[in-house]
Amino acid sequence: MKTNFLGLQLKNPIIIAAGPWNRDGASIRESLATGAGAVVTETIVSEPFPDIKPRISYHGFGGSNIRLYSDVQIEGWEREMDIAKSKGGIVIASVSAHTPSELAYLAAKMEKFGADGIELGLSAPMGENLEVTASDPKEVYKLTRCVVENVKIPVMVKLSQSATNISLVAKEVKRAGGAGVSAINSIRCILGVDIEKKEPLLPTYGGYSGAPIRPLGLASVATLAQTVDLPICGIGGIEDYKNVLEYLLLGASAVQIGTALMIYGRKRIARIVEDFECYAKENKISDVKEIRGKALEKLKSFEEIKIEPLLCYVNSIPCEAGCSRCIDVCLYHALERNKNGQIVVKESECTACGLCTCLCPTQNLSLKR
Ligand SMILES: Cc1cc2nc3c(=O)[nH]c(=O)nc-3n(C[C@H](O)[C@H](O)[C@H](O)COP(=O)(O)O)c2cc1C
Repeated sequence: MKTNFLGLQLKNPIIIAAGPWNRDGASIRESLATGAGAVVTETIVSEPFPDIKPRISYHGFGGSNIRLYSDVQIEGWEREMDIAKSKGGIVIASVSAHTPSELAYLAAKMEKFGADGIELGLSAPMGENLEVTASDPKEVYKLTRCVVENVKIPVMVKLSQSATNISLVAKEVKRAGGAGVSAINSIRCILGVDIEKKEPLLPTYGGYSGAPIRPLGLASVATLAQTVDLPICGIGGIEDYKNVLEYLLLGASAVQIGTALMIYGRKRIARIVEDFECYAKENKISDVKEIRGKALEKLKSFEEIKIEPLLCYVNSIPCEAGCSRCIDVCLYHALERNKNGQIVVKESECTACGLCTCLCPTQNLSLKR
């Protein structure tokens, strides 16, 4: 599905996010070979840090990392971009710095080396400083403006879910001439504590990523789509083509994927692209515009919600042997078994909160009028 994002013609809206899987020319070329619409480089800084060992942890559904940016010096990226782009494809350079001039310098260099666009990494969950910057609309304006004035390619700013008011920050990106925003970056976390050794799993705060952050990414994207007139790239926890659609339906024009590639390999990206293209074909969708923001129309403010006369309803699906989960969890004691052992609803007690319908393993419960 062709997509125009930031003025770039992408063959589909699926972009591979910044991370060590795009750390140099060879790895970027491998990423482009998945069929993704574009690739974002690992973030490039003036003074690369040495790698902390270990720096990645995963607990079965979400990951934490303390990898801090590309270890290739800016000058080395001339060579790496030649390799990256040797078979074509769109490469967006992620750059980060603490001062506007340093940021503009890196962006201008990457433009010269062939980058098609710039992503400004103005937040980092590991260090303190950049998280503060990411919440400060005036700082974000200054940094973005300086880059926009120094490059001709489109500039997108990657926003943090930790920003106090993500909409205000995005509005400053627009005022500064930014072409779009991407949201969200990984989120400051401690993945867990080894209770035997009495130490955290990684030695410092990390960035939380993967499926558990998807609801946060979706909420940030919806908020941005409702409040700011800028193209949005949705990021966070995408694992399959349905998750891509969720972001688009909430107003994103494109998406980025990181952890799913890290955990399942590049073949996962190729699969998502293929499944997404099949969905588009089956549903006769030829442009992201046709579905973008369609679910936003139904996202109401709390005050607008009307109270519907719903009740829990028992479908005629047999329960799992020995299961009484719905009875155990019902906060209102509205479920019980009749003398034939069937689940029944005490209508006078049921408040249609919806919890049992989510937990029933056989989907025997639903809410109806
Ligand atoms: C190991 C690792 C390294 C990352 N490095 C970068 C980076 O260099 N620059 C950046 O902007 N984001 C970086 N990210 C964040 C991702 O680009 C992405 O915003 C985040 O992981 C959420 O998306 P996901 O759930 O699909 O991974 C990194 C994420 C991981 C897991």
